[in-house]
Amino acid sequence: MNDRVILLETERVRLRRFGLDDVDRLVELDSDPEVMRWISYGQPSPRSHYEAVVPRLLAQYGATPLLGVWVAETRVDHAFVGWFHLRPDRIDPDEQELGYRLRRSVWGQGLATEVGRALVAHGFGTVGADKLSARALVGNAGSRRVMEKCGFALEREFTWPEEWLPGRSEDERRGVKYSLMRSQWQVPRA
Ligand SMILES: CC(C)(COP(=O)(O)OP(=O)(O)OC[C@H]1O[C@@H](n2cnc3c(N)ncnc32)[C@H](O)[C@@H]1OP(=O)(O)O)[C@@H](O)C(=O)NCCC(=O)NCCS
Repeated sequence: MNDRVILLETERVRLRRFGLDDVDRLVELDSDPEVMRWISYGQPSPRSHYEAVVPRLLAQYGATPLLGVWVAETRVDHAFVGWFHLRPDRIDPDEQELGYRLRRSVWGQGLATEVGRALVAHGFGTVGADKLSARALVGNAGSRRVMEKCGFALEREFTWPEEWLPGRSEDERRGVKYSLMRSQWQVPRA
């Protein structure tokens, strides 16, 4: 479906609104244990999760279309790349949290950085946020590097709540929070 609301376009990617028919793509994305390695220690997400989450997201962000979760697809042929979000931080809700999950086949091409930077500009420039955040498990080196390349700096370590990583030890739930203030943001050179 290519007739959905487009949030923004970068050189290679566009972000569009989710639809109920994206459930299959999301389930398939999360079925790759490498994609889920630093999210759920490789556990896939059951289809029932997305069947519940997608309608909720559509309802939740319908009133604030500048924030939310978007499908990322290539501009050229609209191939599914993954998703990005910019939405209230789950722990510090006055901040807007950047997040991303991409198919393994597109890793290493700079796409997360390209779209992440565009969402930072969107967050400060269009949404008017004062502070952006990004969170990951401590060991997620790839995600942490993307955060740095988008201008974020390490703010603190924290422990993910147990209900988000059931059965995992405190050590396995160690997280990092990165952040970026509007006053620190510099538009990156092309
Ligand atoms: C993390 C992820 C989004 C990176 O996407 P990507 O498009 O490959 O990232 P980029 O190509 O923009 O790479 C950005 C930087 O991160 C580095 N990087 C990427 N993956 C890395 C890894 N596993 N280990 C170390 N560095 C890594 C790249 O080398 C690049 O740095 P460089 O320019 O200095 O070489 C992608 O691997 C992914 O979706 N992973 C699974 C889901 C996930 O963990 N999401 C984040 C949850 S917090």
